[in-house]
Amino acid sequence: MIDNALFLLDPRLRRAGVRVELELPPDGTPGEPVALCDANRLEQVLVNLLANGLDSVEGRAEPRLRVAARRTGGGNGGGAGGERVVVSVADSGPGLPADVLPRLFEPFFTTKAAGGGLGLGLAISAGIVRDFGGTLTGSNGPDGGAVFTVELPAAPPPPSSPLPPPPSAHPTTAALADAAAGDTQCPTPGPQS
Ligand SMILES: Nc1ncnc2c1ncn2[C@@H]1O[C@H](COP(=O)(O)OP(=O)(O)OP(=O)(O)O)[C@@H](O)[C@H]1O
Ligand SMILES: [Mg+2]
Repeated sequence: MIDNALFLLDPRLRRAGVRVELELPPDGTPGEPVALCDANRLEQVLVNLLANGLDSVEGRAEPRLRVAARRTGGGNGGGAGGERVVVSVADSGPGLPADVLPRLFEPFFTTKAAGGGLGLGLAISAGIVRDFGGTLTGSNGPDGGAVFTVELPAAPPPPSSPLPPPPSAHPTTAALADAAAGDTQCPTPGPQS
């Protein structure tokens, strides 16, 4: 999932010489971050956040993006108050000025030059995340760059028995950590285990 989003932006990331750091638990560990969300729509959110990060670091010294995904929270996967999946995208850009912070998710709010952005990326992303019962927040990290955090209900952990997976449910689950195993398979919407 994160892999796919990075792949879409790969030419721009290379051209700008951006170092991308991934912080993901290894595939198959109990803490594997699998979110209850449509894979394509979550990918759209990640592409928006990465593109913003890329815009913010372009032309700066040591341009860096850091993507982290982890599972967190209480005992019951998927339910309200249960486990969550937290994905963050941090950059080494100039960060979010105080006058921009309250307007981040406002449709058509942009500080980019004409033709540089419509100001819709974060408004659309926040809507997608909200549709799946999650939150999207933006803040400044300890080193001054921006950090955007997506929090979503986690998919229930897979059964530990060797039984076949249960019939598919909606919404589909989006495995965020495909990159950890070098898996290049594209998570598709529709029936998945
Ligand atoms: N990583 C970031 N660093 C600094 N500022 C940011 C970052 N991400 C978003 N912003 C600020 O928030 C504004 C709104 O972002 P948003 O993604 O909604 O629109 P956009 O990137 O300007 O245009 P679009 O996404 O429609 O191409 C940006 O114009 C910028 O001022
Ligand atoms: Mg944008």
